[in-house]
Amino acid sequence: MADGQPVTILCISSEFKGTDFLHSARQEGCRILLLTEEKHKDKPWPREAIDEIFLMPDLARYDDVTYAVSYLARSRVIDRIVALDDYDVRLAADLREHMRIPGLGSSTARYFRDKLSMRLKAQEAGLAVPEFVHVLNYDRLNGYMQQVPPPWVLKPRFEAGAVGIKKAHSADEVWHWVNELGDKQSFFLLERFVPGDVYHVDAIVSEKEIVFMQANKYGRPPLSVSHQGGVFISRKLPDEAAETKTLHALNRQFLTSTGIVRGITHTEYILGEDGRFYFLETAARVGGANLADMIFFASGVNLWTEWARLEAASARGEQYQLPPVRHDYAGILICLARQEWPDMSGYQDPEVVWRIDKAYHAGLVVASPDQARVEQLLQSYSERFAHDFLTVGPTKEAKRVA
Ligand SMILES: Nc1ncnc2c1ncn2[C@@H]1O[C@H](COP(=O)(O)OP(=O)(O)O)[C@@H](O)[C@H]1O
Ligand SMILES: [Mg+2]
Repeated sequence: MADGQPVTILCISSEFKGTDFLHSARQEGCRILLLTEEKHKDKPWPREAIDEIFLMPDLARYDDVTYAVSYLARSRVIDRIVALDDYDVRLAADLREHMRIPGLGSSTARYFRDKLSMRLKAQEAGLAVPEFVHVLNYDRLNGYMQQVPPPWVLKPRFEAGAVGIKKAHSADEVWHWVNELGDKQSFFLLERFVPGDVYHVDAIVSEKEIVFMQANKYGRPPLSVSHQGGVFISRKLPDEAAETKTLHALNRQFLTSTGIVRGITHTEYILGEDGRFYFLETAARVGGANLADMIFFASGVNLWTEWARLEAASARGEQYQLPPVRHDYAGILICLARQEWPDMSGYQDPEVVWRIDKAYHAGLVVASPDQARVEQLLQSYSERFAHDFLTVGPTKEAKRVA
C-alpha cells in the first residue's frame, strides 16, 4: 500500500475456482491469503500464487469465520477481501463491514445476492420485472395468485445454478410446496414464469463507471438445461444489433441504481413474448459455466484477471486501465458426457479455441471475427454433441464431479 507494503488480499471461496484471479493478483504484486473449506484442501490451487491457505470446516458458519479472520488480522493487515464464489459474496461483505475494509458492503451486496432485494431494486430503477411476491404474508400470496396467471416459479432467494427452482401451475401446487418448506418459506419468492430466451450481460465496473459490457444470449434457457438436460450454449450478440443496445442501456440503468463501485457483474434478462426484456437476476462475480472463457475469446478481456487488476489498482489508489478490447465473436457449448473423458478430437475447425478439461463433460469455445460463422458452428456442433456425448440424466459419476 502507500507505506510500500504489498497489498494483501484475502480471497474467500467455498468452491474450487478463481485460479486466473489468484495468478493475476500475484502478478500485480499482491500478497494472497486464501480461505476455503477443508474439503477443497487437495484441489489444484495455484500454490505458487498463494502466500497462505486457511481451511475451515464450513464457511456458512459466519460467526466462526468472523472470529477466525479477525484472529488472522491480529498479525496481518488485510487490505481487500474478495469473494470468488457467489455463495461467499454475503460473507465477504459482512467481513468487510466488520473490519471496515473498503469494497462491496452489506447493503449493496444484498442487491447482488438476494433475489428479492435485486427485484425490488430493478423495479425501482424502472426495469420490467416478472410480477413477484415474497412468500411471507399469506393474504398477499393468495392475492398475488388470484391476480397473476400461472405458471409461476417458486424460487429460493439465495441459491444459484437453478437449484431449488420449481415451476408451479396452480395455487394448490404452490401451497403444497410452501407447506413443505415450513420455516424456510420466507427464504423464497414466487414470480410469473416468463417464457422466452435468456440473455446475460457481463460487465466491469470501476469507480462507479461501467468500463466494459458484453451482451450475450444463452441457447435453451438455463432452467430447461439444468432440469431436463441438454447442451448448454451461450454466445456474444452482434455489436450492432438492436437487442445489444437495449441490453446495454438496461444494464447500465440497473447497475447504476445499485450504487456498485467496482467489480465484475453478471446480470440476466428474459426476452418476453411482448418484446420487452425482463430483469431476471444479477451477481457481483464472474459468470459460471466457463462463460469467462467465451467472453475472453470474443473480447480479449479476461474477467478474472481484470477483477484482480481492479482490486489491486484501487488498493494502491491508482486508476484502473481496461486493456484494449477486441470486437470478435465467440460461443460456448458444454454438456454432461456419457464418457469419463470424451474424445473431442473430431472437432478440428480452426475456430475451436478452448476445450474443457473436466471429467464427464464435453465442451468447447469457438471464436471468429465473423458472427455468422460462430452461429453456424454452434448449430452444427450442438447437434454433433447431442450425438457424440450428451447424457440426459446426470450419471452418478457425473453428479459427483459436477
Ligand atoms: N420468471 C421466470 N420465467 C421464466 N424462466 C425463469 C424465471 N425465473 C427463472 N427462470 C429460469 O430459471 C433459470 C434460473 O433462474 P435464475 O433466477 O437465473 O436463478 P439462478 O441463480 O439459479 O441462475 C433461468 O435461467 C431461467 O431459465
Ligand atoms: Mg441465473
